[in-house]
Amino acid sequence: MKYYKDFHVEIINNLHNEENKMYSWKVAIRVSRLGLVSGILVGGMAMVQNNGLAKDITLPSPSHSSRISVEAALQQRRSLREYSSVPVTLAELSQLLWAAQGITSRHGYRAAPSAGALFPLEVYLVAGHVIDLPAGVYRYRPHAHTLAPVAKGDLRSKLSSAALGQSSIRDGAAVLVLTAVYERTTAKYGSRGVQYVHMEVGHAAQNVYLQAVSLELGTVFIGAFYDDRVKDLLKLPDSENPLGIMPLGRLNQEQK
Ligand SMILES: Cc1cc2nc3c(=O)[nH]c(=O)nc-3n(C[C@H](O)[C@H](O)[C@H](O)COP(=O)(O)O)c2cc1C
Repeated sequence: MKYYKDFHVEIINNLHNEENKMYSWKVAIRVSRLGLVSGILVGGMAMVQNNGLAKDITLPSPSHSSRISVEAALQQRRSLREYSSVPVTLAELSQLLWAAQGITSRHGYRAAPSAGALFPLEVYLVAGHVIDLPAGVYRYRPHAHTLAPVAKGDLRSKLSSAALGQSSIRDGAAVLVLTAVYERTTAKYGSRGVQYVHMEVGHAAQNVYLQAVSLELGTVFIGAFYDDRVKDLLKLPDSENPLGIMPLGRLNQEQK
């Protein structure tokens, strides 16, 4: 029964939180602990319509190498709240999204660890000043490495207002919002799962910090915001809660 449950949870992970009629999906079935079968089932890929918005946007492939060592990135990491007005690129955002929650294994594991591999986190991109990407809200789909449009228009100022007017959110060229569906983890771990989810958002956020250093971009983790207002802006379902906001922007001359 336990193994059926594992299988079931994994399917749910891939189907969760979908408002769309069709979408790209990939399901990794791991029953190796049973010692019976180990394999991967890869679902068909489909480009889809989202709430009448444009089709999913395919992101450039992430790079797996860097000019900077992990030690140097740790040494250089700082929370930066002011940025230059130069736009960021879709390739840079692709890299940051991958660092936050990208798939790094054929079994569906991700760049950040996850209790029980239940993957409660979602990542949203609030794009404002991005080359090759219209302003809007997008949801990251890790398995397909695509962006699903959620809302049109530049929502950075409204998001800043929802976060006590913090100017870094308004001034970042783009903003990541890390959200979570607690139920994915509490279904297995009960109330302790809440702690696990909070730990996971820290892991993902640190990945974004270090990736930003590597890309010579600035970011800051923001925890002070009105949950309900952020939920409204991102059109989150009741089951999903915002846990962190990370504006992203190019460094000023004096920050370099
Ligand atoms: C859980 C958490 C919440 C935070 N919330 C905010 C915030 O709302 N606004 C902000 O400007 N910085 C926020 N920060 C960033 C801290 O202020 C920052 O990490 C701290 O000043 C240390 O600086 P450093 O990150 O450069 O080492 C937050 C950091 C954490 C870990």
